[in-house]
Amino acid sequence: MEKLVSLCKRRGFLFQSSDIYGGLNGFWDYGPLGVELKRNIKEAWWRDMVTGHDELAAPAGAPTAYQMVGLDCTIIMHPQIWKCSGHYDLFHDFMVDCRESKKRYRHDQVRGRWLTAKGQRIFAATESGGADGKGEQEYIEAKALKFFNLRAKDAGQLAWEGELLSLTQVPDFAQVLAPDAKELGTLTPPREFNLMFKTYVGALSGEEGAAFLRPETAQGIFANFKNVVDSSRVAIPFGIAQMGKSFRNEITPRNFTFRSREFEQMEIEFFCHPRQSPEWYQYWRDRRYRWYLELGLAGDRLRLRDHHSEELSHYSCGTADIEYAFPFLAPGDFGELEGIAHRGDFDLRSHMEGKLVRQGNELVVELDAEGKPRHRGSGKDLSYFDDETRERYVPHVIEPSAGADRAALAFLCEAYQEDEVPDEHGKPRARTFLRLHPRLAPVKAAVFPLVKKDGMPEAAQKIYRALKPHFNVFYDEKGAVGRRYARQDEVGTPFCITVDGQTLTDGTVTIRDRDTLRQWRVKADDCVDEIRKGLAASG
Ligand code: GAP
Repeated sequence: MEKLVSLCKRRGFLFQSSDIYGGLNGFWDYGPLGVELKRNIKEAWWRDMVTGHDELAAPAGAPTAYQMVGLDCTIIMHPQIWKCSGHYDLFHDFMVDCRESKKRYRHDQVRGRWLTAKGQRIFAATESGGADGKGEQEYIEAKALKFFNLRAKDAGQLAWEGELLSLTQVPDFAQVLAPDAKELGTLTPPREFNLMFKTYVGALSGEEGAAFLRPETAQGIFANFKNVVDSSRVAIPFGIAQMGKSFRNEITPRNFTFRSREFEQMEIEFFCHPRQSPEWYQYWRDRRYRWYLELGLAGDRLRLRDHHSEELSHYSCGTADIEYAFPFLAPGDFGELEGIAHRGDFDLRSHMEGKLVRQGNELVVELDAEGKPRHRGSGKDLSYFDDETRERYVPHVIEPSAGADRAALAFLCEAYQEDEVPDEHGKPRARTFLRLHPRLAPVKAAVFPLVKKDGMPEAAQKIYRALKPHFNVFYDEKGAVGRRYARQDEVGTPFCITVDGQTLTDGTVTIRDRDTLRQWRVKADDCVDEIRKGLAASG
């Protein structure tokens, strides 16, 4: 992971935001290559889910044919949206502060173990995943030894009890040795912390002007459901897709871009008849899982996991996560890439009637002490009239919700490879390369003159100009050709085209494949077709 992070910075994929001022935790900038990678991911998603979708035939596994349309909503919306969606009341994490180290942790992300030494029982804790390059057990053992003033060779004096526990399973913090503390009992009791960023609209700085940066793109889709139905000729079943920025004031942003405070989502709200919703849920789980496989994530590092009932969000009656074994996680652990949720009619009904809460098996409007709706809905009728069946109902929603930044990170982790290639003298040379899917590769081909003389640069520039209208290509004439290949391998360019002495006599060039290192000659005039063929074949 450290090698990948360093490559990302060195080659211009990702930079810490506000780097020149020391950085801002939880915010990341995409550099010249990173922006291309992320755009390619978003374009692949939009093309595969929206514009390329064939609405005339049912795709494999789908109960019927369906329509897909897109939307692009604002980041700041009416504050009532967040009240009815539940985010205003429920979108929070619990945090604990350490009085000694002044550090703040997410309550559920501190883990530790009970142990006794020198007659004293303590709970030694770490942030989940460990710290300082040490795994969880290694970190807490080192902490415990230090606390009891013992050396590594005295580790046998630590009598461990049970397995690693979450801090949420420890009712009293008096004996807790916090992750960065030297004393016991330095953690404050857990406090609620709403993750929405608050801002003020217009000149009103009081609560009347208060608004929030959206924590998900989904709500803009629900708020526009009626507009889309009334203005486009969509009929259920259909989906509305949106991608764009979301903001969450995460307590502990971490793991490179995995948990950031500003990130991009790619979300679909799929509206269907309640009777058909279980089949559609199944379809979207499988469809979205396949999408990552098709773009190159390996099946043994990607999994679909159904949520336990206690994990389900307040609105959900079924959720599965697509998860990836990110290399910064402990062996065997997976991190969420995308959630696919069956949201029932929760969102549309909340925006219609007022904020809903679950009462037994029923969803009912939440009332205040005086029996009035606590957060009023829009009052608009968001039900749907089915012309064919002459039925009126509130559609059920299946939501595949992906993160563009997490997808970019997973594709980068998967692509990172090291091997050995022969150098110009036939000696093995270590190489680092990104085996990115050609659809995702920031640069599709690089064009080199073998040397900077004899008309080779002019011939190479002609090829570059012929390719440029079709693909993102790169021209490089600086340094030894081996170094130029290495630079392109490192950023995942699938093909390198080299103009050499032979080009000047027979008009052919060499094309080199990043993954197989195969080299073959083609006519310079055929480069556009050859690269197009190569990209399609390796896709
Ligand atoms: N509308 C449902 C929703 O937003 P979520 O599981 O909270 O569900 C969906 O978020 C996806 O958004 C996640 O699977 C992840 O890819 C991405 N995501 C969420 N929080 C993120 C964060 N702090 N940083 C980067 N990506 C995040």
